Amino acid sequence: MLHDPNRIFVFDTTLRDGEQVPGSQLTTPEKIIIGEALEALGVDVIEAGFPISSPGDFTSVVELSKAVREPIICALTRANKGDIDCAAEALKYAKHPRIHTGIGSSDMHIKYKFNSTREAILERAADAVKYAKQFVEDIEFYAEDAGRADNVYLAQMIEAVIAAGATVVNIPDTNGYCLPEQYGAKIRFLKENVKNIDKAVISVHCHNDLGLATANSIAGLQNGARQVECTINGIGERAGNTSLEEVVMILKTHQLNLHTNVNSKHLSKLSHMVSRMMRMPVQPNKAIVGKNAFAHSSGIHQDGVLKHRENYEIINPEDVGIDSSEIILTARSGRHALKHHLERLGYDNERIDLDQVYQNFLAMADVKKEIKDDDLLELMGVETENNFK
Ligand code: KIV
Ligand code: ZN
Repeated sequence: MLHDPNRIFVFDTTLRDGEQVPGSQLTTPEKIIIGEALEALGVDVIEAGFPISSPGDFTSVVELSKAVREPIICALTRANKGDIDCAAEALKYAKHPRIHTGIGSSDMHIKYKFNSTREAILERAADAVKYAKQFVEDIEFYAEDAGRADNVYLAQMIEAVIAAGATVVNIPDTNGYCLPEQYGAKIRFLKENVKNIDKAVISVHCHNDLGLATANSIAGLQNGARQVECTINGIGERAGNTSLEEVVMILKTHQLNLHTNVNSKHLSKLSHMVSRMMRMPVQPNKAIVGKNAFAHSSGIHQDGVLKHRENYEIINPEDVGIDSSEIILTARSGRHALKHHLERLGYDNERIDLDQVYQNFLAMADVKKEIKDDDLLELMGVETENNFK
């Protein structure tokens, strides 16, 4: 099969980086349920855990490797033999195993985290890849804090790890520091300056500390990266990771000539599943999967959407697994929205004094925040029952 240069590989790290959220730990059976749902969604890689970190994480990687057979199963390590041995052991049942090893690449990390030098860290990076390569063919290298690293040094490091056998090179903006133009330029710089860069896939891994994780990931993809690392609902440490559903729907909505294998109709279901199991409510205005993402509440928008959905919707809700958008009745709603709901409840608008009903509705809506079906029925009263169609 010919390699498709516009295919974006989706690397889901909900079960590893996403699970680093305090209070959101999952049991192994829960991880398997999510892993199977991710497989059905069509992700290419599932980062199943960090096996050296705890016996529970080790077991989860083993069990996920047995249960989920289609995507690559990836395990995280630091750049040392103990971590790599442990990951290799945990991955022994995986059909498509990948070891994800790496080390800090910014001067900040080199000096204050490792108390080391650029030269020594570069050597450790290449040694870790060579060591991991004995166990599995597929090795991803992460250059931690690449967002703040010097581009020339970063390029040297990436060149060294590709020479050592890395098949994927991950350029994390670990602290969510970069602007989209900076991050895109960083990926472009690596693409243009690293010898043999085409032997590896460049991966983007962005954090959301400045609310730019998705924008940075897209900038990276537009500049030559072909793998995106993300989590369902954008969960992750601090402000979280790049949100999978946002990236997928951006690539579907815009003609960037880039595409994934994800079946977006599963997105809403997976969002609910992860939110429930990880005890992490999704903010109502969250793009794509928030409760209000397809809800219209102001009169002007409701009128527009009822005339033609695309007046105020750039995404068809069915594409993310939601039956239809919602017209919410509040004190900001107009007659058109009220009429729509009355019709839906079976009333014959020809036989209703809509002006009067609308005045009563506004009085009720000023007191209640949202008018639900029961409220509408109460508002219409039993005496209007003969106005049903
Ligand atoms: O954010 C980061 O740098 C990471 C690496 C461990 C891949 O999560
Ligand atoms: Zn991360």
